[in-house]
Parts: sequence; structure tokens; C-alpha cells
Amino acid sequence: MRTTRRLLLAGLAAIAPAAFTPAAGQTTVTLTHALPPASHYGVGALAFKETVERLSNSRFRVTIQRNDNEREAIEATQIGTQEFVITSTGPVGNFVPETLVLDIPFLFRDYAHARGVLDGEIGRELLARFPARGLVGLAWMENGFRNLTNNRREVSSPEDVRGLKVRTMENQVHMRAFQTLGALPTPMAFSELVPALQQGTVDGQENPIPVIVANNLNQVQRFLSLTRHVYSPAVLIGNPAFLNRLSPADRAIFDEAAKAAVVANRNKVTEDEQNGVAELRRRGMTVRETVDTAAFQAALAPAFQAYAQQFGAATIERIRNWR
Ligand code: PAF
Repeated sequence: MRTTRRLLLAGLAAIAPAAFTPAAGQTTVTLTHALPPASHYGVGALAFKETVERLSNSRFRVTIQRNDNEREAIEATQIGTQEFVITSTGPVGNFVPETLVLDIPFLFRDYAHARGVLDGEIGRELLARFPARGLVGLAWMENGFRNLTNNRREVSSPEDVRGLKVRTMENQVHMRAFQTLGALPTPMAFSELVPALQQGTVDGQENPIPVIVANNLNQVQRFLSLTRHVYSPAVLIGNPAFLNRLSPADRAIFDEAAKAAVVANRNKVTEDEQNGVAELRRRGMTVRETVDTAAFQAALAPAFQAYAQQFGAATIERIRNWR
């Protein structure tokens, strides 16, 4: 009996390394993003994984993990402790300052405008800035138009925002906008948001409908206003050392996977925009669909002047007037 058990254990020990280490010639890479698997980032990440694994006959495997501190995840991608991240541009401007121009409020008219700019010359020029900062910008993905939620009151005009403590991303363009509106912007990582709302450290936050739905923010926020005050791009970023080691054929696989991720991600944003508001009402949120956009834009005039100085009026107009 004891001999049989010893033999069994010896057998298990012999096969264990094979079971827990990648097969010979197989490379496992890690992709992180901040949201649940069923979200618009989650489906994009899955499309990336499936495409990489299919086209490489599983020579590459992709592990998807959640990290809702986007700044940390970008740093990890920069130093190479992970290979890929999908992140909103929120913290990206702290690494690639040229991308901050995209975070200006009311810059994009609609999704077609934003996607057109990011998929075109302007988007490519901005992605070309990443390598100088130790990152590779593979493709523009999407987070969506951001809307304000809070626990104090219905918001339909800039006066309603005055005095609200609003969690913002760690993004100076967004912070300036909320300061200009008379709110009290409180920057923090998304990982800190729910406790901050529960403890009343902040009254509100702003995020696209797909984020509010996927993260059940209705459980901690009562009022939603469709302010659509800023378009929030996302970007798929890779580690340069990893990507530069790939053969051209393998690099093409990752580029193809990035394209598949963009398609899946944007389709999910479109779907969530169509169904999300009704879903949030069903979950009990009070939704204000019509807000005074012109009044918000007028109230932001001093911020717009500051952005023109920072980024150049011509650069901003080039994006704004894109057709
Ligand atoms: O609010 C944020 O920090 C971002 O929109 C989020 C939810 C992490 C998605 O990129």
C-alpha cells in the first residue's frame, strides 16, 4: 500500500511541472484592464486573446487580469511586468502628454467623429508619440462619452454642479474643467471610487454608460445626468521590449488581434449606449436625459482658453473640425 502511494506521488511529481509550466515553445503574456469580463473592455480583451491564440496556433497564450488602478497598470506595462494594458486615456497623459488634448470637454460631436479622428491621421500621429515614453500604442479603443452621476441632486445646468465633490480621473484636463464649473474635483484611481462614494468622501463621479452599467454604480449613486461632457478614449498599449522581440509574422498576429479587440469593444459600447439608460432606470436611478449643453460649454470658456494655450488652438480646431 505504502509503496503504491509512494509510486503515485512520484508519478504526480514527474507530471506536475509539465502541467503547470507552459508547453515548450509557448509564451504566455498578460493583458490587464479595469473592468468586469462582460464589459466593453472585457469583450475587447477576449477578442484580443482569442485572435492571438488562434492565429499563433496557441504558441502565444494571453492571460487576462483585472486591475482597476490604470496608472499602475500602465507603469507595469512600461517596465515589462505585464505585456499589455487596455486603459482609458485618463492617466495616459501623465506618460504621453500629447494625448491630453483628446480629453478636452465637448471636443467630439459624437461617436462617429471620435472614431474617425482616432482611426485617421491624428490618431496615428498620437500613437507614434508612445515609443518615446517607453510604451507602444497599438490601437485606439473606446471607453465612451462620460456622464455625471451623484447623490445630491438632479443636474441639468452648470449651477447644479457648483459645490459638488466629484471624483475625477487623475487627469489635469478633466480636473480643470470641473474646477471651472465650481465643483470640487477629487482625483483618484477607479479602485478607490466605490468606498469614496459609500463614505461620502465624494458626492459623485463621471463615467460612460457602459462603465456605470458594468460596475453597478447605480448601487452607490442616485442621479444620472446625460451630460456627455467629454469623450473618453481608451488605448491598447504594449510593452516595447516584448513587441520588438517578435518576428514580423508574430508582430502581425498581435496587430491583427488589436484590430479584433477594437471591433468587439466598440460594438459593445454601441450596444450599451442603446440599452444602458433603460437598464439604469430599471435599477432605480433617476435619469435626466436633457441637459443645458450650451450653458455647460459657456461656463467652460475660461478652461477652453487655457486648453488653447496649452495645446495650441490650431491642434484643437483640427480635431474639432474633422469631417
Ligand atoms: O473612471 C475611470 O477611471 C475610467 O473611466 C475606468 C472606469 C477605469 C475605465 O477606463
